[in-house]
Amino acid sequence: MDKKDQLKKIYEIPFWRQKIELEPGVFTPGSSVFPELWEIMKLPEKLNGLSFLDVGANDGLFSFLAEEKGAEKVVAVDIYSNSADSSTMTDGWSSKCIETVKKYKNSNIQIRSNSLYDLEHWKEKFDIVFCSNVIIWLNDIFKAHKVLSEMTNSTLIIREDILLNTRGAQLRFSNLHKKNPTQGHLIGNKDYYRDVLKKFGFNSITFFDIREDLIWSEYSKNHPVYTIKKGAFIFESFDSQDSATELENEKKIRMSAKINDRIYFRGVGWVKTSDLNEIQPIYTSKFRMNLKNLLKRISFKPYEANYIIIARKN
Ligand SMILES: C[S@@+](CC[C@H](N)C(=O)[O-])C[C@H]1O[C@@H](n2cnc3c(N)ncnc32)[C@H](O)[C@@H]1O
Repeated sequence: MDKKDQLKKIYEIPFWRQKIELEPGVFTPGSSVFPELWEIMKLPEKLNGLSFLDVGANDGLFSFLAEEKGAEKVVAVDIYSNSADSSTMTDGWSSKCIETVKKYKNSNIQIRSNSLYDLEHWKEKFDIVFCSNVIIWLNDIFKAHKVLSEMTNSTLIIREDILLNTRGAQLRFSNLHKKNPTQGHLIGNKDYYRDVLKKFGFNSITFFDIREDLIWSEYSKNHPVYTIKKGAFIFESFDSQDSATELENEKKIRMSAKINDRIYFRGVGWVKTSDLNEIQPIYTSKFRMNLKNLLKRISFKPYEANYIIIARKN
């Protein structure tokens, strides 16, 4: 299959979460996590010769980036299943996305379908274990930290929402009566992370607030909102020139990708750049100022924030 057909297949997959760069300027249609995040999260510049485990890897963004940064062995693990409803994230994730990107990039990453809890049965350790926004979905965060620690040779990098108060771990949304292992929503604070990670053998634990407000404003520059002109044609499939819908009213929509003179919109199709009116970033600095003022007025104290926690063994 040539690159064009592969790209067509990528655009036919109905649900993508992550925006992954396939080649310069060409991205998967995902809209929630994006390649710039590696730098924004201040992750290591180079991983030459290291092994990297991406737990809850989803569409594989961080695994492919780790490979590009020189990691020698990269394993992406998630509760992958082809029948999964990827819109809920609770009963598994479709492996179609990561599989097609792997093929497109001729990547050597290994894709494995396992729950985080199953990793304790693997007889492997990794130089870097990375786990981004997964633990909060689990019902046993203590066990999750134990397993992740046991898999780590040197550095464990966790990205997670943590509580900003001084009380301990808290059950946020209790669905524990369900058997589903990904419905717990427990959340810890800094003390909890310090204690538990020390207990599991880490002697340096640092926290880094990744300022999601800045990330999302950065992100919106890359995913601007366009107004599509009334009367514009939306072409529904990747390379179709004929199965087009004529737009009855002006429509505002967020871009997924730009390839040559085509702008792709997730779940919608593509239009010619000449049919676009204007670009509007979603979170403008004005919007952020208004939000700040509003929060000041209602004296809102942030309750939790998204952090990178870097834990190192000697
Ligand atoms: C919010 S997404 C985060 C994805 C990715 N790490 C990121 O930062 O973009 C949560 C991911 O955790 C996965 N997940 C949920 N429960 C899991 C479990 N028990 N073991 C492994 N992965 C799990 C989901 O399938 C989903 O891909």
